[in-house]
Amino acid sequence: MYYNELPRHVAIIMDGNGRWAEKIGKLREFGHQKGVEVAIDIVQQASDMGIPYLTLFAFSKDNWKRPQNEISVIMNLMVESLKNEFQRIVESQVKINIIGNLNDLSLEVREVLDEIVHKTADHKGLNLTLAISYESREEIVNATKSIVQGVINGVYKIEDINQRLINQNLYTAELPYVDFLIRTSGEQRLSNFLLWQLGYAELYFNEKFWPDFTKEDFESALSVYCQRERRYGKTGHQMKQKIFATQ
Ligand code: IPE
Ligand code: IPE
Ligand code: MG
Repeated sequence: MYYNELPRHVAIIMDGNGRWAEKIGKLREFGHQKGVEVAIDIVQQASDMGIPYLTLFAFSKDNWKRPQNEISVIMNLMVESLKNEFQRIVESQVKINIIGNLNDLSLEVREVLDEIVHKTADHKGLNLTLAISYESREEIVNATKSIVQGVINGVYKIEDINQRLINQNLYTAELPYVDFLIRTSGEQRLSNFLLWQLGYAELYFNEKFWPDFTKEDFESALSVYCQRERRYGKTGHQMKQKIFATQ
């Protein structure tokens, strides 16, 4: 039984690069390299399938706690792959946004990211958001500060504070809420990713390490999503009546 069309907004926690590499006796960095290749394939597939929004967790705020060498490799891989893929990004009309605390990044990385965001701003295809140095709780704190500042400055009144205003002050203000979250590597946690935006998302956990995740795995994950009944607090019976009424 299929309940849903393809999700409008898919978010992925691409986890397991390090363990994948260690399992085959390689350095963790090798896993990140393979992970980027898989990410490029999945972006292309999402774009080909016409999924409008894809958000990838590329680097968390807490990932700064990792060894410096691993961090440098990840940063270089991000910058190099965005440069190398630019032609394909243009051909597929992928529009790139970045969410996270960009002040944490080196000037060199920030410049490359700024440039790609700028150059793809008018693209009409897949809306690809990369979460880099991202932490959901920090995002919510920042939104709170800007709303309080708005109240102090007389831009809003306390009564104006509602879900929509909070949403407008998040990094993801331009994005719809997430419909479907995929996490690979068998871990079943959110690791501070999009806590507000995932409020009603369907969650899907896959045992495979991210470098082993294939286009077929992505397709079967999407098929699971289509078979989930999203009830939003209603009963299954009410939802069936709604489907019947719209037929
Ligand atoms: C995900 O893979 C990529 C990043 C966090 C940057 P990991 O590097 O977390 O790999 P594991 O979970 O240690 O295997
Ligand atoms: C989350 O994975 C961040 C990314 C995938 C970029 P982690 O591997 O850092 O998360 P934890 O530490 O296992 O929760
Ligand atoms: Mg991990």
